[in-house]
Amino acid sequence: MSQDVLVKAEKLTKKFNGLVAVDSIDFEIFKGESFGFLGPNGAGKTTTMKMVQSISPLTGGTLTLAGMDVTEQGRKIKAIVGVAPQEDNLDPDFTVLQNLMVYARYFDISKEKAKTKAEELIRFMQLEEKRDVIITSLSGGMRRRLILARALMNEPQILILDEPTTGLDPQARHLIWTKIRNLQKQGVTVILTTHYMDEAAQLCDRLIIMDHGKIIEKGRPADLVRAHVGEEVLEVLFSEEAMHCLKQYFPDARIDVVGDKIQVFANKPRGVLAKVLDKVSFKGALIRDSNLEDVFLKLAGRSLKD
Ligand SMILES: Nc1ncnc2c1ncn2[C@@H]1O[C@H](COP(=O)(O)OP(=O)(O)O)[C@@H](O)[C@H]1O
Ligand SMILES: [Mg+2]
Repeated sequence: MSQDVLVKAEKLTKKFNGLVAVDSIDFEIFKGESFGFLGPNGAGKTTTMKMVQSISPLTGGTLTLAGMDVTEQGRKIKAIVGVAPQEDNLDPDFTVLQNLMVYARYFDISKEKAKTKAEELIRFMQLEEKRDVIITSLSGGMRRRLILARALMNEPQILILDEPTTGLDPQARHLIWTKIRNLQKQGVTVILTTHYMDEAAQLCDRLIIMDHGKIIEKGRPADLVRAHVGEEVLEVLFSEEAMHCLKQYFPDARIDVVGDKIQVFANKPRGVLAKVLDKVSFKGALIRDSNLEDVFLKLAGRSLKD
């Protein structure tokens, strides 16, 4: 597979007065891949997205999209990028269709073509029944889908989704994930931010984990999990006794206490952790697949939601 670099950042930096929101980060995003920025609130994800969209000037470093410098070619960049921003900035006085039509005016799209595109996207996002309804009467999930539809009006090569499902219920999230996967299959390059590890694991080919403006790790979700925490985690309800026993049984393992649980990361092949449960009975014992949250906890020493 040829690996065309579509987005390239070198020592990308953004400061707000004294605060370093993005601290000299490097990354490369290839054409056709889905690339994630995973990190807790305040990590610098949105600030990075705004620089990629060329709507926020850089404090330092360089950033190019399709070979174009964001500082010099803002107009051309905006034409090839579609953005679903973190905040809901739909026009509340307009209907679903009108919101899409008004947005098309920012681009060089004829009214006729905009109408066809808008109708197509309304169908794609399953909003047909709401086509002529005022935005204020839509559910959170519908509004998110409309924001996603709007981001597609200019047929972008690069789609930026800043926390596409934050605050939505599981059903609404799954519907949006399905739509995003559809777009991925069509070859759209997707850049996504999230603080949900399941979302990142489901949608991203590669991701970076950010904290305090810095990249603390990067790679494929499954590789990161395997490298840092192994495939499985044993969880047991905390007691001094259980702790003592687990330490003896797994002398080389990383053993953490999270809330009222003990977590054992033994980095052993699947099935090995279960053997201890044949010999010792622990309260609340559970073996589960390890995930990106475990990786973040290990690297940052705290939860993604903190
Ligand atoms: N316009 C701004 N002015 C001042 N500080 C900002 C501004 N935008 C973001 N920040 C700060 O930059 C940091 C990163 O914010 P942001 O990029 O929104 O993080 P994330 O999207 O990962 O939650 C935070 O500390 C935030 O308060
Ligand atoms: Mg944000």
